Amino acid sequence: MKTMPAAIQNIYARRSVRQYQDRPVERELIEQIIDAGRMAPTAMIKQPWKFYVLTRRESIREFSKAIIKTLAKEMVHEGAVGIAKLAMGALYNLYYSDFLKAPDIFYGAPVVIFITAPKDEPWACYDTCMCAQNMMLAAKALGLDSCPLGAGKAVEHTPIFYKLRIPYPEQVFLALIIGYGDETPKAHKRIKDNVVYVDDPEPGCN
Ligand SMILES: Cc1cc2nc3c(=O)[nH]c(=O)nc-3n(C[C@H](O)[C@H](O)[C@H](O)COP(=O)(O)O)c2cc1C
Repeated sequence: MKTMPAAIQNIYARRSVRQYQDRPVERELIEQIIDAGRMAPTAMIKQPWKFYVLTRRESIREFSKAIIKTLAKEMVHEGAVGIAKLAMGALYNLYYSDFLKAPDIFYGAPVVIFITAPKDEPWACYDTCMCAQNMMLAAKALGLDSCPLGAGKAVEHTPIFYKLRIPYPEQVFLALIIGYGDETPKAHKRIKDNVVYVDDPEPGCN
């Protein structure tokens, strides 16, 4: 088999990591990762993103607790469907981490980055996701690991959201955690029967 270029090997090596070493990430590396995010494509070259970074253990813990509380409250409010979602969320976290012992939505990572963009930016969801993927690949290339957290969006509904100093016109699209990984999860099996070569001649047509 032909050897893969390093950039493609890096894509295959990236995993969502949910256990981290108790080791801070150098500010220079955080800067490199964010800068790689800035190189992502954006609709109409708008570059609508902003990055709100937490690196202090106490603040990460405080936000984690607030998010868990908020998610639980919101789901209980939703009634039966919410409770089912809560149970599924708990299972998700239980499956991936020692959640009952140390409930932490950020899985002990030393860096949390909330990626925001203006609420009225129609392509922001695509832009910020491409940015996040660049960041996760950059992290991997720099010897770090990461995990995207949709659950991080719930920070907007916590009573301490104001502490992030995210102005009203912005919305949180994703939280990214970054750190030196302390596990090497196996890749999930990828679905492969999802390609259609639309203009290939049908068998027997030529
Ligand atoms: C939009 C998005 C939201 C996600 N949210 C969470 C999350 O809230 N918590 C979590 O542990 N993982 C989250 N993940 C990570 C996925 O579970 C992970 O990407 C998937 O299991 C595939 O594993 P891999 O990233 O190692 O290939 C999210 C991934 C994406 C793309």
